[in-house]
Amino acid sequence: MNEVVTMTFFQKYEERAQAELFDQMDFAKQLGLYPYFMELSSEQGPIVKFGDRETIMFGSNNYLSMTTNPKVKEAACNAIEEYGTGSTGSRLLNGTMDIHTRLENRLAEFIGTESAVIFSTGMQANLGTLSCFLRKGDWVVSDEQNHASIIDGIRLSSLDKKNKIIYKHNDMDSLEKSLKKIPKGEYALIVTDGIFSMEGDIAKLDEITELAETYGAGVYVDDAHAVGVLGPNGRGTAAHFGVQDKVDIVMGTFSKSFASIGGYIAASESVCKWVKHRARSMIFSASSPPSAVATVLAVLDIIEKDDSHRQKLWANAKRLKKGYLDAGFDIGHSASPIIPLLICDEMKTFQMFKDLLAETPRSVYTNPVRTPATPVGRELLRTSCQSSFDFETIDEAVEIITKHAKNLDII
Ligand SMILES: Cc1ncc(COP(=O)(O)O)c(C=O)c1O
Repeated sequence: MNEVVTMTFFQKYEERAQAELFDQMDFAKQLGLYPYFMELSSEQGPIVKFGDRETIMFGSNNYLSMTTNPKVKEAACNAIEEYGTGSTGSRLLNGTMDIHTRLENRLAEFIGTESAVIFSTGMQANLGTLSCFLRKGDWVVSDEQNHASIIDGIRLSSLDKKNKIIYKHNDMDSLEKSLKKIPKGEYALIVTDGIFSMEGDIAKLDEITELAETYGAGVYVDDAHAVGVLGPNGRGTAAHFGVQDKVDIVMGTFSKSFASIGGYIAASESVCKWVKHRARSMIFSASSPPSAVATVLAVLDIIEKDDSHRQKLWANAKRLKKGYLDAGFDIGHSASPIIPLLICDEMKTFQMFKDLLAETPRSVYTNPVRTPATPVGRELLRTSCQSSFDFETIDEAVEIITKHAKNLDII
């Protein structure tokens, strides 16, 4: 061993990890406040089980409750029978089955674009797409509350750091000021979530696309939480605002309303052709398993014909929102089935999470959110609706949440 080195790489790493993370984790565990990696012992539905305890699932992205839909489950099983369990290769080489292409065609039709490309996760869709378009000399103008996969996709590109402008969350004056900074003749892409994942507010895509037109910028929308939820039959944020022809790339995921795993972009033929041959997260990764693809096709079959699941979701979201507002909660600017309870105190957020889970006979699961997912001082419990809740369950959860919030002086 080199004489100046006193520890191995991983001994040194362990020392760092202890100081940066493990000490805090151990402390949280001692207080019984560590909230992560909890094991569910049931399927993902409106009511789940942690061990034997029944819990109202207020922290999932299963907006249309399709994970348990019999037709969807049957389609996934049939795909395994027909195509086997895995794709065993990249889309570029042996990993493209006809079911992958069928899904791309269906998505393009559903979203209203010329073409679509699917990825194995939504994270990979953002990483691969943003990094293969943004180059040295280009500009990106990105909302400060965009998802981590957008932030990382931009980081992976060869864009100069100084050409990355972060505008204030959903603030059109800040966006316009940012666009004005870009020298004439240089190219810019505006990137925004459609529905913001933590606070459930909706991007002002009508105004964003107008500004993009004025300043000649491109528009990229991450519809992870909006597909299946916003717009006619869940076609997304652009359809909600009637601006489909003004958005250049719509990105989405299959891990939420589509009850599966995977991601996509929907765009022009030429954009998709480029992505298929340049997005490294797609080229150097195996394609989605057939069962995951068949799941999405089955959900599309349902939601294209039958909007009732989405209608029920919105009725439930309205009920929940009213319950929170009547109880005196601050729910920010939520305008979707994602409804945050703004607590603005880290310890109280984790305590509340724990208290809700300890409730008997039925507990409530929520998502405790702290930095970096939300700014420091804006800690919150993220709650979200599913179409399969009934009003009684929603009211029961609101009652439990209200009781514990009062105990902690949150309301
Ligand atoms: C806004 C947003 N974009 C992208 C992703 C990544 O999607 P996936 O879970 O499919 O990797 C998520 C998932 O959390 C998300 O919330």
